[in-house]
Amino acid sequence: MFSRSVARVWAAPSSRFFSASAAHRTKVAVLGAGGGIGQPLSLLLKSDPLVTSLSLYDIRGAPGVAADVSHVDTGSEVNGYAADQLDQALEGVKVVVIPAGVPRKPGMTRDDLFNTNASIVRDLASAVARVAPDAHILVISNPVNSTVPIVAGTLEKAGVFNPRHVFGVTTLDVVRAARFLAAVAGASPNDTAVTVVGGHSGPTIVPLLSQSSHGKGITGEAYDKLVHRIQFGGDEVVKAKDGAGSATLSMAYAGAKFTNALLRGLNGEKGVITPTFVKSPLFEDQGIDFFSSNVELGLDGVKKIHPIGQLSAAEEGLLAACLPELKKNIEKGKAFVA
Ligand code: NAD
Ligand code: LMR
Repeated sequence: MFSRSVARVWAAPSSRFFSASAAHRTKVAVLGAGGGIGQPLSLLLKSDPLVTSLSLYDIRGAPGVAADVSHVDTGSEVNGYAADQLDQALEGVKVVVIPAGVPRKPGMTRDDLFNTNASIVRDLASAVARVAPDAHILVISNPVNSTVPIVAGTLEKAGVFNPRHVFGVTTLDVVRAARFLAAVAGASPNDTAVTVVGGHSGPTIVPLLSQSSHGKGITGEAYDKLVHRIQFGGDEVVKAKDGAGSATLSMAYAGAKFTNALLRGLNGEKGVITPTFVKSPLFEDQGIDFFSSNVELGLDGVKKIHPIGQLSAAEEGLLAACLPELKKNIEKGKAFVA
């Protein structure tokens, strides 16, 4: 399906996120590879020309997923690892993507997942600290506003935390914002990119529509509805799946898209900028030291954290609602590690 030639990858239908601008290739691990996100994410990463080698790990099912995905005719090698082989799975890995953990059911918030997912993420981060301390860690497991501080705190305790290497994947919010704005504006999603800042849960998701040429003219009820849909797009999927989980396929797409952006930055491509939830100075003076804003990705991960820019009055209101909730979520994650 995807071309192996770099020149043709740009022309392939997948080119919106599989960009290969440099020759370097990288070993990537997926922890939670047997799950609803992990399986399609592994497939998409197998199709990414910047991935040399894929290590697929889960407490169940990863060797089977690896055998299946390994038949796809792209250059990368694929290995699957069973529950007791986490350390082997992480050997020599430069990028670790973590979609391990339980998803929501209707009526639950992401924070309701904390009790189960906090220890899963902490234990996986401990293993990365031990085996691949220089790896870049991409956290998908919810609640992202808390799991990212848990990963950072765990690495810190092990003496290997590098703030340039830890990312909360908020790309699904960015993908949704572009798609939903396109529908409202009658435009192509190629032309409706929206910067989404804050965190990854309901009111902490702050879309900056005023900074988008198609978004800035949307006002009144249409604006309120669009913002609500971006903030609560996850609930839409949870409700429609009716107890069978949350977004998996669109999340795999978003996870592969963010991974490719990081790999392009690591390979020296200039100007790779996307929102992601990182250790950030932007609201540190208010006791909030993790925040998602546009981040330039470079040779060593986070290269530059961009400020959020000019906000409309409505966005100032959204930000005011975001910050206290985000602070609470971050503190909960930190307290768990402490
Ligand atoms: P799932 O239940 O289908 O898959 C989770 C997988 O994790 C399972 O295969 C399970 O065996 C595995 N797992 C559990 N404990 C593990 C451990 N200690 N080590 C390795 N693997 C382990 O769930 P899913 O739908 O794939 O969702 C996974 C997580 O991603 C959830 O927390 C969900 O809320 C989150 N999520 C985040 C976003 C986002 O935008 N960041 C989007 C969608 C879902
Ligand atoms: C999403 O935004 O779809 C994910 O965070 C999963 C969820 O629980 O909504």
